[in-house]
Amino acid sequence: MHKLLLLIIAAFCSSLITDRGFIIEVHGGFIIEPITDKCLTCICNGASRCGLGVKCDGDVCGVFSIGYEYWLDSNSPTLPFDDPESEGAYIRCASDLYCGAEVVANYMKKNPYDCNSDGSVTCWDYAGLHNRGRLECAGFWDIDFEMNYKSCMNNSSMIINFGIA
Ligand SMILES: *[C@@H]1O[C@H](CO)[C@@H](O)[C@H](O)[C@H]1NC(C)=O
Ligand SMILES: *[C@@H]1O[C@H](CO)[C@@H](O)[C@H](O)[C@H]1NC(C)=O
Repeated sequence: MHKLLLLIIAAFCSSLITDRGFIIEVHGGFIIEPITDKCLTCICNGASRCGLGVKCDGDVCGVFSIGYEYWLDSNSPTLPFDDPESEGAYIRCASDLYCGAEVVANYMKKNPYDCNSDGSVTCWDYAGLHNRGRLECAGFWDIDFEMNYKSCMNNSSMIINFGIA
């Protein structure tokens, strides 16, 4: 479906289903695609090739390279029965593949941003936000991140089922 047509339809509804089967949300003219399992998988590949067993490196932890502030901003998900106030809850969550994915999904839902100003917030924008933050997300990504993200986006047999979308 053409983007302009989508926008016109979108003016009359707060959410609708696109030809790719996504339910999208519209906020003040922006189309916001929800973050998908494919997108999360490829952000994970960009961040660390999604190599299981990645622990903490400097001030980031886990396969998604999640920092403490980012975790806080994502409403502090935890492992089942863990307490966000307890010591190490952040590290335990960020070091877990599925909890890490929940952090990224929550963060993007809370802080969507149209990095390249094309009217849509897509996986490309989420990846840029994750790698470079809002101020630099339209610019140069880290080389390894970009390469691993792109080759993952090309390979649908890599998709991890996070149960998010
Ligand atoms: C992804 O696939 C397209 C089309 O098959 C190809 O042109 C492109 O080079 C590939 N990109 C990567 C990063 O593998
Ligand atoms: C796609 O991903 C699968 C699973 O990780 C891997 O076995 C396969 O070699 C990849 N294919 C290409 C073309 O990179």
